[in-house]
Amino acid sequence: MTATWPAAQRLIPARARPGRVQGSTPRPDDHVIVLFGATGDLARRKLLPGLFHLAAAGLMPGRYRIIGSSRRSLTGEQFGELARQAIAEFGTSKPTGAAWQAFQRRLSFASAEPGRTDALAAAIERAERQIGGTPGRLFHLAVPPAAFEPTVTMIGAAGLATGSRIIIEKPFGTDLASARALNQTVHATFGESQVFRIDHFLGKESVDNILAFRFANGLFEPVWNRQHISYVQVDVPETLSIEGRADFYDHTGAYRDMIVTHLFQVLGFVAMEPPTSLDARHLRDETAKVFDALKPIDARHVVRGQYAGYSGEPGVAPGSRTETMAAVRAEVDNWRWAGVPFLLRSGKRLAASRQQVTLGFREPPLRMFPVHALGSPNGRRNEIVIDFADPGSITLGFLAKEPGAAINLGAAELSFRYDDSFSAANTLEGYERLLLDAMLGDQSLFTRSDAIERLWEISAPCWRIRLHSSRTSPAPGAPQPALDHLAAPYHWHLPGARQAS
Ligand code: BG6
Repeated sequence: MTATWPAAQRLIPARARPGRVQGSTPRPDDHVIVLFGATGDLARRKLLPGLFHLAAAGLMPGRYRIIGSSRRSLTGEQFGELARQAIAEFGTSKPTGAAWQAFQRRLSFASAEPGRTDALAAAIERAERQIGGTPGRLFHLAVPPAAFEPTVTMIGAAGLATGSRIIIEKPFGTDLASARALNQTVHATFGESQVFRIDHFLGKESVDNILAFRFANGLFEPVWNRQHISYVQVDVPETLSIEGRADFYDHTGAYRDMIVTHLFQVLGFVAMEPPTSLDARHLRDETAKVFDALKPIDARHVVRGQYAGYSGEPGVAPGSRTETMAAVRAEVDNWRWAGVPFLLRSGKRLAASRQQVTLGFREPPLRMFPVHALGSPNGRRNEIVIDFADPGSITLGFLAKEPGAAINLGAAELSFRYDDSFSAANTLEGYERLLLDAMLGDQSLFTRSDAIERLWEISAPCWRIRLHSSRTSPAPGAPQPALDHLAAPYHWHLPGARQAS
């Protein structure tokens, strides 16, 4: 009898992204990491704890140094203490023991501002000498958006850009013209292959899992289109307020902070065609094609709200018209999605915190069961709900016959929960994953200049939309009639998100 390979082994191995080869946990080459904005909120909440978690998990390079930088002057000891406190407060790995001692020894600080970069250049040179060889150099711009251009130009003028990589935070620009100008400034110093525009939602395990869910299974992709799906929602309500970030938020608003960045990136993963492979070029080509196919947002399909009390928040301009909640109905005008509304919503101080994609399925062609038997709440029947807040879950909602002689149907679910199915030992938080990818030079989960410009281009009509008055709404942060109208004939999956707290 001839030996045959089991079917699973005959599958043609997909071309994996560099650094994401199945079964191996990649370790980047030696690195010097420079954190601009090292004393700021993002560095304290995410970046320093994230880098330490990578170190504790054995995922940092064999030899590395982290140089904190900002306009402020701190000694190395002061920065070490700031990092320790930040990691103790926000980190999953706590700053104790040998792992912390080893990490702390690799931290230093050098202040810098345009025209005053000597200390930083010297610190980088010292760190590279300590490591030896030619380590990679990674700049992370965890600074306010207004500081992106001056910081990039400063790095170039100081002669520090050659052979390095740069991570730039969001939002990348405030409209098409400013995004183009920023891209031009960046490209004057860095080639596109050196630029990592970060959107930490793409680093979330459950967002990456959308690709596995769709393309590693034969089960779902055949129905992932307009023939079977009637609407898609990407809903990210937050109970948080602006949490003292008025300086940033009042100039930004919910649309620029969340929709044009995070939510559209998630839409890209939900709507893309199967990429030729998972490498950066093919994956980013497919998201760019989705964004190309987006129709310019129709001004009638935008809702902006502001939570009661926002204008009284410290630092918010009196009478501010900045929206703290935004919702849009987007349309992907291609063969797969024509006519299927993509409903995107996010806001602060709403009644629920959730990060959820919902795909609603069309009704079966024949109604065999009597209407009274349809027991699904809110008319919700067949849906795939992807909850991408860590740790994440996927739920399939369907109707089942309730036990008994009468024909009554009840809402039933099949569900997958990361927590129940896999060990959390290897879990990385969004920023951790993306910092690792940037050190590995893998741009798959970072946004490309043309894709970002396209999102600003289709958003242009949104800037003309007035704030939906909070006074006429029973729910000040979320003007419910306008939201219901936007989603009609469908419904928001999270009715609880309608009330402002
Ligand atoms: C940030 C926004 O990018 O993402 C915040 O600026 C928002 O306003 C946050 O709260 C949500 O991210 P996470 O990590 O809590 O999912």
